[in-house]
Amino acid sequence: MFPLVAARKAVVAWVVFLALSAAVGAGCGSGSSPEVEAGPDGTPDPVLVAGRGVFVDRCASCHDADGSGTGDGPRLNRGRLLLEYPDPSGAVAVVSEGKNRMPGFGGLLTSDEIDAVLRYINEVL
Ligand code: HEC
Repeated sequence: MFPLVAARKAVVAWVVFLALSAAVGAGCGSGSSPEVEAGPDGTPDPVLVAGRGVFVDRCASCHDADGSGTGDGPRLNRGRLLLEYPDPSGAVAVVSEGKNRMPGFGGLLTSDEIDAVLRYINEVL
C-alpha cells in the first residue's frame, strides 16, 4: 500500500516539475531571452550560446530580453541592427565605446564576446 502511494507522489511531483519547467522555458513576454536552437550537427553553435549569455547579463536590462527595446534602449531585434549597421564594425564600435546613454563595454567584454553578442542579436533575436 505505502510504496504505491509514494510512487504516485513521485509521479505527481515529476509531472508538476515538467509543467513548471515548460512554463519557465516558454518565457512569457519579456521573461527570458530565446535559446539558441540546435544546428545541423544537433548541437547549438557555442558562439551563439556565449553571445546569449552576454546579452542576458549585460544588454537585456535596457534592450529587453528579446531585443525589442525598452524606455532605456532601442529595439535591436528582427534584423533592425543589421539594417542599421550592415558593416558589423559600426555595431562593434557602439558596443565597445558606447553612444550617448549607451554605456561602452570595451573594458568589460573581450572582442570575441562583443562579436558573439552581436551575432546572437542578428541571428537569433
Ligand atoms: C544602460 C542601458 C543600456 C545597456 C545596458 C545596453 N545598451 Fe545598447 N543602447 C542603449 C541606448 C540608450 C542606445 C541608443 C544610443 C543612441 O543612439 O543614442 C543603445 C544603442 C545600442 C546600439 C546601437 C543601435 C542603434 O540604433 O544605433 C547597439 C548595437 C547596442 N546598443 C547594443 C548593446 C549591447 C550588445 C549591449 C550589451 C553588451 C547593450 N547595448 C547594453 C542603452 C543600453
